[in-house]
Amino acid sequence: MRADIAKDPFVPEIYRVGSVRRELADAVTLELEPVSGTRPDFRPGQFNMLYAFGVGEVAISMSVGASEGTGFVHTVRNAGAVSGALARLEPGATLGVRGPFGTGWPVAEAEGRDVLIVAGGLGLAPLRPAIQEVLARRERFGRVTILVGCRSPSDILYQHDLEQWKQRLDVNVEVTVDHAGTDWHGNVGFVTTLIPRSPFDPDNAIAMVCGPEVMMRFAASGLQKAGMPAGNIYLSMERNMKCAIGLCGHCQFGPAFICKDGPVLPLERIAGLLAVQEI
Ligand SMILES: Cc1cc2nc3c(=O)[nH]c(=O)nc-3n(C[C@H](O)[C@H](O)[C@H](O)COP(=O)(O)OP(=O)(O)OC[C@H]3O[C@@H](n4cnc5c(N)ncnc54)[C@H](O)[C@@H]3O)c2cc1C
Ligand code: FES
Repeated sequence: MRADIAKDPFVPEIYRVGSVRRELADAVTLELEPVSGTRPDFRPGQFNMLYAFGVGEVAISMSVGASEGTGFVHTVRNAGAVSGALARLEPGATLGVRGPFGTGWPVAEAEGRDVLIVAGGLGLAPLRPAIQEVLARRERFGRVTILVGCRSPSDILYQHDLEQWKQRLDVNVEVTVDHAGTDWHGNVGFVTTLIPRSPFDPDNAIAMVCGPEVMMRFAASGLQKAGMPAGNIYLSMERNMKCAIGLCGHCQFGPAFICKDGPVLPLERIAGLLAVQEI
């Protein structure tokens, strides 16, 4: 009987917060462990519906890959009522988890090709499991470039990981900020300005892009100008979610439901819609 209930996609499983790590002034990373049973497998780019009891449920991507640890890791920005309640959870607290849902990044398809990761702000969170998977099997890929853009130096996520990736000789990592004080000695400008000077073969590369929609629009256009076909550019889209299984229509994006056809979609499938603001 219990097994049948667990299979119902509307019934959350109970997880306990193992640790909370402050990442930014308004964002934390939660390590979650199942209270009973085992955590299901998932792919980089997929998301869970996290339920703050008595407040509500929101979509949050996994921010660490399935091969690391026995639970889920999520980075949550306090953007409103539900995400704020999640961001205030303390170790030992419980919450509901439904998932995993949605499509993943095309990591397997990228084998044998150059890989270009383009992240804006918190968009690095859903991309980190894909980066971890590529770096764990580094020899299977061509050149690997990670481009990260943030508003200011204090908005840079996962600084420890970025430092570790930068130390590797087989990965090109560039970080840029929109605005900086005199204590910043790195790149200044939008993340899209890094694309033309990145080492990749546009005919044999896969790009994975995640960030605010306006940033993804410019990044997609920059990648296409650099010669990449729309079919090799993948974006992770965000829409308000309710059911997360393609039933309620809350996340409709033209003919696609972001919860089940996405969130990761090739640009060639959504290019026309991406140009329409507020769709
Ligand atoms: C597939 C997917 C993956 C996501 N991954 C993450 C993640 O890893 N970390 C994270 O912090 N957030 C993530 N989000 C965004 C997160 O779901 C929203 O921030 C959250 O739903 C806001 O709900 P709230 O009740 O806290 O705020 P609300 O009070 O509902 O909204 C706060 C503000 O955010 C806007 N908003 C609400 N929902 C969304 C949305 N889905 N997209 C864009 N704007 C929205 C509202 O219009 C409002 O301006 C993801 C969303 C999706 C769809
Ligand atoms: S959230 Fe219900 S259809 Fe996507």
